[in-house]
Amino acid sequence: MKKYNVGIVGATGMVGQRFALLLTDHPWFNVTALAASPRSAGKSYKEAVGSRWAMTDPMPESLKDMTVLDAVEDIETVVSKVDFVFCAVDMKKDEIKALEEEYAKHECPVVSNNSAHRFTPDVPMVIPEINPEHIEIIHSQKKRLGTKRGFVAVKSNCSLQSYVPALYPLDKFGIEKCLVCTYQAISGAGKTFERWPEMVDNVIPYIGGEEEKSEKEPLKIWGKITGNEIVPATEPKFTAQCLRVPVSDGHMAAVFVSFKNKPSKEEILEVWKNFSGAPQELELPHAPKQFLNYFTEDNMPQTKLNRNLEGGMAVSVGRLREDTQYDYKFVCLSHNTLRGAAGGAVLLAELLCAKGYMDK
Ligand SMILES: NC(=O)c1ccc[n+]([C@@H]2O[C@H](COP(=O)([O-])OP(=O)(O)OC[C@H]3O[C@@H](n4cnc5c(N)ncnc54)[C@H](OP(=O)(O)O)[C@@H]3O)[C@@H](O)[C@H]2O)c1
Repeated sequence: MKKYNVGIVGATGMVGQRFALLLTDHPWFNVTALAASPRSAGKSYKEAVGSRWAMTDPMPESLKDMTVLDAVEDIETVVSKVDFVFCAVDMKKDEIKALEEEYAKHECPVVSNNSAHRFTPDVPMVIPEINPEHIEIIHSQKKRLGTKRGFVAVKSNCSLQSYVPALYPLDKFGIEKCLVCTYQAISGAGKTFERWPEMVDNVIPYIGGEEEKSEKEPLKIWGKITGNEIVPATEPKFTAQCLRVPVSDGHMAAVFVSFKNKPSKEEILEVWKNFSGAPQELELPHAPKQFLNYFTEDNMPQTKLNRNLEGGMAVSVGRLREDTQYDYKFVCLSHNTLRGAAGGAVLLAELLCAKGYMDK
């Protein structure tokens, strides 16, 4: 595989820092541009991030002295240095939409963590093990944008990266209804305990927009390409409640599900054990070997013990049992800034490279 030069737009933020770590020493990618807001532009990466470095691993030496560019004003400089960019910025939705399309129109593909384009009908929202075929809609998107190689592809919200992987393969039994309650880490809000002391010893029962995303986004993932768009599915129906809990990293979900054809517990465990997809077939660098990992112990999985499973790219599942009102209940866990954000985007970019979408 050839090496691709890549940029990180939003490099100074929580997700941007994860990208910095994941992309350093990546076998296919080489970071050649960093961009953020005008507050950071012109400074070295080390200076721009300053005390905001929130990772347990140190900042990569190779990036410390790289000058941060302005994501908006320096767009031509950024695109001249890269084959494509990863994007994770905290801006208004319409500004992000415009910014990502601007990069695409400069013939620079964008792999995005932002929610702005998730419901643009010709933008694929991909969990690579589940709906890799949705990337084919990129041909329609390029026609709309009038580009040769520029496009936007997005990953879904971090909340659903734990329960959608476990539920998707079970839909062969016909999911009738599903209720999820998520317990979400503070890094999901771009925060640490130092920067959000109110979260110590506390639970906040509201995360703006999260419940809507958790209910609606799975339907696009379940959707089908029809003509020039991805038409979201109308089933399965999800209802979600999302809580912020005092955990640094890792989103847990408690799931209740009923089926049209109720499977046995053994059948469910078999489906999970055997579920894999394009990343495993293509042996992509960030593909976990075992995507869904079932823990038999009653007190597992645990956020602190299991969030980093397979580099934070695998999903942990446990406590599968019958329920009194639904058919079954179980819990799922995924790392929100790895599988749920930067890692999920890197895996998507690897898929796009393997399928030729990043070639010049
Ligand atoms: N954290 C997660 O677990 C997670 C998961 C999935 C998706 N996301 C999404 O990823 C995005 C970033 O989240 P985050 O948690 O990394 O946020 P964050 O820590 O607040 O970082 C925000 C980034 O955006 C940049 N930025 C802010 N205003 C800008 C402007 N006007 N022009 C250009 N860049 C600007 C910041 O640069 P400065 O440092 O220069 O201000 C910083 O690099 C959001 O859309 C979020 O919803 C986050």
